[in-house]
Amino acid sequence: MRVNIFGAATVLIAVTTSVHAASVPAKRASVCNGRAELCDRSYGNTTFVGAHDSFAHSTDPAALARDQEINITAQLNLGIRLLQAQAHEDDGELHFCHTSCALFDGGTVQDYLTTVKTWLDANPNEVLTFIFTNPEGLSIKDMWDPAFQNSGIANVTYVPPSVPVKQSDWPTLGQLIDADTRVVVFMDYGAKDGTTVPYIMSEFTMVWETPFSVTNASFPCSVNRTSGPLSDEDHMYMINHSLNINLLDTGIIISDPSDAPTTNGVPSILANAYGCTQFAAGRAPNFVLLDFVNMGQPFKAADILNGFS
Ligand SMILES: *[C@@H]1O[C@H](CO)[C@@H](O)[C@H](O)[C@H]1NC(C)=O
Ligand SMILES: *[C@@H]1O[C@H](CO)[C@@H](O)[C@H](O)[C@H]1NC(C)=O
Ligand SMILES: *[C@@H]1O[C@H](CO)[C@@H](O)[C@H](O)[C@H]1NC(C)=O
Ligand SMILES: *[C@@H]1O[C@H](CO)[C@@H](O)[C@H](O)[C@H]1NC(C)=O
Ligand SMILES: *[C@@H]1O[C@H](CO)[C@@H](O)[C@H](O)[C@H]1NC(C)=O
Ligand SMILES: *[C@@H]1O[C@H](CO)[C@@H](O)[C@H](O)[C@H]1NC(C)=O
Repeated sequence: MRVNIFGAATVLIAVTTSVHAASVPAKRASVCNGRAELCDRSYGNTTFVGAHDSFAHSTDPAALARDQEINITAQLNLGIRLLQAQAHEDDGELHFCHTSCALFDGGTVQDYLTTVKTWLDANPNEVLTFIFTNPEGLSIKDMWDPAFQNSGIANVTYVPPSVPVKQSDWPTLGQLIDADTRVVVFMDYGAKDGTTVPYIMSEFTMVWETPFSVTNASFPCSVNRTSGPLSDEDHMYMINHSLNINLLDTGIIISDPSDAPTTNGVPSILANAYGCTQFAAGRAPNFVLLDFVNMGQPFKAADILNGFS
């Protein structure tokens, strides 16, 4: 009986393959970002956990400019699917640095992207987002694009048919993975027209953020950085969920690992998220950006926001 069923199925597959060989997609992911359900979920309707200043990692507590404890590969292995980083020019090269390269130099952008590409190659069913900060307005074409090309990441980036993309118009995670366009790149400044380098997209036309340098543990929500022409409700959004302290009342704001287990805990993240849904037609945040991602239970909070528990 069993043999007959398999026999019949094999014949059927053989026929189907010979007829449709040219039009059948090369692959169809059945698990996307660790979940079968996410393959059919729109990218714009998914909550991802992100690492703020992902490059600024150090295990040394005296490194006050650090915002993370574990390295990029370890962040990705833990489940981080948004990497945020800030770049500066240092000796003619693009580096990821925290405020200035004298304060914290995370190395070249190209080396960072090469590390991420190695991880992406080993993890083909994962969609990853970058939100990069370009405070010096460095050239997208002459400084950023070469780093993406040389690292090989440019080859797996997503280029939408037109920009800006409405929150409801994004492809599913399965579509991004099947097409191997599973890296989505946003830049805060310098990518305005979206045509300079098509895969480096202008962040605020599609994503709004809550305020930064928050020192209030209840994270009152408001729309902070955003831009048109889409309405804020048609944007995705990122909650900047890291609590800062005013260092010895000097006015110097630093992140504090001692409160990260609470800040990155489920109650704090959910309260912040639910406080923001009023600005997003009831929707959860797309990105939860955190310091010290190895502390607390941020992935449990994201599972709840994604409807998995
Ligand atoms: C996705 O859509 C569901 C159903 O409308 C909603 O509850 C959820 O908050 C949305 N999540 C995001 C990140 O848009
Ligand atoms: C990153 O951290 C992991 C885990 O601690 C370690 O095994 C790995 O060697 C580190 N990678 C680099 C490049 O330092
Ligand atoms: C990117 O893809 C192109 C065409 O598929 C290939 O020629 C090129 O070598 C790839 N670049 C890298 C850095 O992998
Ligand atoms: C955004 O947040 C920053 C820092 O909290 C604040 O200085 C600025 O006024 C805010 N901008 C808007 C448009 O809300
Ligand atoms: C988030 O907040 C931090 C400090 O709290 C700030 O440096 C950063 O620019 C904010 N936005 C992003 C996208 O990281
Ligand atoms: C912190 O935010 C909460 C909620 O919006 C607000 O009630 C409270 O006054 C804020 N605290 C400070 C010190 O601003």
